[in-house]
Amino acid sequence: MASVLAIETSCDETAVAIVNNRQVISNIVTSQIPVHSQYGGVVPEVASRQHLEVINIAIAQALEQARLDWQGIDGIAATCAPGLVGALLVGLTAAKTLAMVHNKPFLGVHHLEGHIYANYLSEPSLKPPFLSLLVSGGHTSLIYVKDCGVYETLGETRDDAAGEAFDKVARLLKLGYPGGPIIDKLAQQGNSQAFSLPEGKVSLPNGGYHPYDASFSGLKTAVLRLVQQFEKQEQPVPIKDIAASFQDTVARSLTKRAIACAIDYGLHTIAVGGGVAANSGLRKHLQSAATEYNLRVLFPPLKYCTDNAAMIACAASDHLSRGHTSPLTLGVHSRLGL
Ligand code: KG4
Ligand code: ZN
Repeated sequence: MASVLAIETSCDETAVAIVNNRQVISNIVTSQIPVHSQYGGVVPEVASRQHLEVINIAIAQALEQARLDWQGIDGIAATCAPGLVGALLVGLTAAKTLAMVHNKPFLGVHHLEGHIYANYLSEPSLKPPFLSLLVSGGHTSLIYVKDCGVYETLGETRDDAAGEAFDKVARLLKLGYPGGPIIDKLAQQGNSQAFSLPEGKVSLPNGGYHPYDASFSGLKTAVLRLVQQFEKQEQPVPIKDIAASFQDTVARSLTKRAIACAIDYGLHTIAVGGGVAANSGLRKHLQSAATEYNLRVLFPPLKYCTDNAAMIACAASDHLSRGHTSPLTLGVHSRLGL
């Protein structure tokens, strides 16, 4: 499939991109972070309205950046699940309308499949099978990528997603939203060995632990108790050391699970995706463990880790070239498995 235009509006970025053969020829991302940060998190109704305000401008900008008109577009796609329903509807309705008006093939894309495909943008030669470690604001999953559209989820979080844990810990440290990048920056100035925090293991009925599932709610509570301890003793909270210890615990937990999973399933490549793939601690730990176990690890460039439409266009392109399309009656889903 030559040029595919895709729209991504599942949360707080209005993104439109055009991808041709795994080459990004335009990539527009309009972030709503400044609007939502005053509320300390994403407000769904505000997100939908913001998407409506900028979607047509973003589409025009994507075409302009690519120096294309609609004749040069061979397929149109949008994220259809999972995400905020009102937000998803803005992008999906725009894509369906454009596909109908310009008579182009249309495809709805699963957001997580987009995060997996972000790796193909920087590594076009990547081929399944490989293991995808998906770590975002809504998901923490280990996915066995068998082929285009053929996925098996091997591990998940039992409670908070990794990005959600970063955002919640940042909130309790009064650091603002989104927490991941702020904690990452502070962690680099702190001592990661300052506090020993629980990694959060998922127990099995036989008394053992689930090797691939994660749990971050206990870790978040441990950070809360630590902060309360300092406050009770009227001592300054050592934010940098807490950030560094927390980040190190999350990074080690994710690394351990991803490496065990890759080895058990005989997969030689771990392709990381989602906003938390931008985390410096995770990059460091996973890269060094992968070297130790002779595995290849791929991290997309930062701009393709967080939400963007290039990854959606890349996934759509693979599906459309295999003749997969979606009906124009396709709806959105707030929750949907891969
Ligand atoms: O993939 P993404 O943009 O949106 C979702 O699909 O959820 O991920 C957003 C999440 C947020 O929770 C944000 O705090 C986190 O990714 N994040 C990070 C970093 N950059 C973004 N977490 C840790 N370290 C970072 N550098
Ligand atoms: Zn995402």
